[in-house]
Amino acid sequence: MSKQISFDSSSADFLIGKQLPLLADGLQAARDEAFADVELLRSGGEVPNNKQPLDSGFIDLPQRLLAGEDGLLESMQSTAKTFGEKIDRMVVLGIGGSYMGLRALHEALCDPYHNELERSARGNVPKLYFEGNNLDNDTLSSLLSLLKNQCTNPEELLERWGIVVISKSGGTLETAAAFRIFRQALEEYYGADSDLAKELVIPVTGETGKLRDLSNSIGYEATFPIPDGVGGRFSVFTAVGLFPATVLGIDIKEMLQGAADITEVCRTKPLGENPVLDYVAACHLLERDHAMDMRVLSTWGNRLEAAGLWYDQLLAESLGKHERGATPLTVVNTRDLHSRGQQHQEGKRDRVINNLTVGSVGTDAISLPEMAANQDQDLLNRIAGKTIPELLQAAISGTNKAYTDDKRPTTDMELPQLDAYGMGQLLQMLMLATTIEARLIGINPYGQPGVEAYKNNMGEILYK
Ligand code: PA5
Repeated sequence: MSKQISFDSSSADFLIGKQLPLLADGLQAARDEAFADVELLRSGGEVPNNKQPLDSGFIDLPQRLLAGEDGLLESMQSTAKTFGEKIDRMVVLGIGGSYMGLRALHEALCDPYHNELERSARGNVPKLYFEGNNLDNDTLSSLLSLLKNQCTNPEELLERWGIVVISKSGGTLETAAAFRIFRQALEEYYGADSDLAKELVIPVTGETGKLRDLSNSIGYEATFPIPDGVGGRFSVFTAVGLFPATVLGIDIKEMLQGAADITEVCRTKPLGENPVLDYVAACHLLERDHAMDMRVLSTWGNRLEAAGLWYDQLLAESLGKHERGATPLTVVNTRDLHSRGQQHQEGKRDRVINNLTVGSVGTDAISLPEMAANQDQDLLNRIAGKTIPELLQAAISGTNKAYTDDKRPTTDMELPQLDAYGMGQLLQMLMLATTIEARLIGINPYGQPGVEAYKNNMGEILYK
């Protein structure tokens, strides 16, 4: 069985089939430009104004890390092992690109009840908590109370916790404020001068900036870099995602291999044999020729929701510029068929439904039990023996048929399995697709000047 992610837009052919071949040259040129941007970045040459900022470094990063660049994988793996063996709770602080990628990996690849399992059933890795991704007093206060009430003896492994603080700029208020608060709690717990207070904080940050300065000044033992040339929302395959993922026991080499493999497919294959280009082509033509500028990522399974939210950010922050760019929306089916389904079926014809499915489930398929005749009022005995994946497949096919019957376009992306290799492919594919689409429509995908506007205003209000 092929391990490669697949993409099929034949259900949208009735709208875009004729235009697809005409787009091939322009699309392949946009792809070549996106890859040439990597050369430009690596050459250290002058970057023209219209390409600044240039954050194309994510494209060849998986390959470079696998080839041993800076020994980073080995040093992350060894620090992650020591860190994970010393704590039972890992608090990860970060927001936006410094948060959502790890959340996507955790939800897709760890047990859905990770934090509720005994340590041994979790593979001997810590529980995971996110903070610093909002200014929400209630969640912040609850996590601090939980740590305070459940952690009273720092000598006990099961009562030890540590912090991974992630901020490329080091200047993001949400994360910086949370770090100050959790650092104070951590120092109170272990003693400000103790070795543990230093060992159990791992900063992940840019080469320069406030968090880098703070880390140097406090003298944290391990600080991992977010390289220049890799933007926040493109940073999941830097230490931002890789370090905490390693602590959680995720096979990051497999993941990077998936990312590197899809990059090579994207770089070399023509339209029609290239899932990345095929995906961009379908979405772009539906938007350009049919005003379908709502892009619905229709995930079939709870474990892909966070990957969808990560993609919402990626698409919105990268293409939402100059009054352009599609609006992303993630749905989780079948759950959201009972909420948004009505609008997708009969609402405005302004959207493409991009299905994201998983070929085979990772757990034993559960089947519907047969009940005694006097308990068959729900009339489910007629499908007794069918499995949950079979019911899901019926929902997928039935939903797609309903859209097709009403001439509403869909596309189908399928991961053979929900594993580290597949997630590597999926996230890299969506990052490449976003970048190529940006080059196709003449937008710089990197940078987020609109986000800076709110940050500046907030600073003016707070620091006046
Ligand atoms: O994509 C981006 O660059 C942003 O979403 C950032 O990741 C987000 O603003 C957090 O920034 P930082 O990592 O500098 O704290």
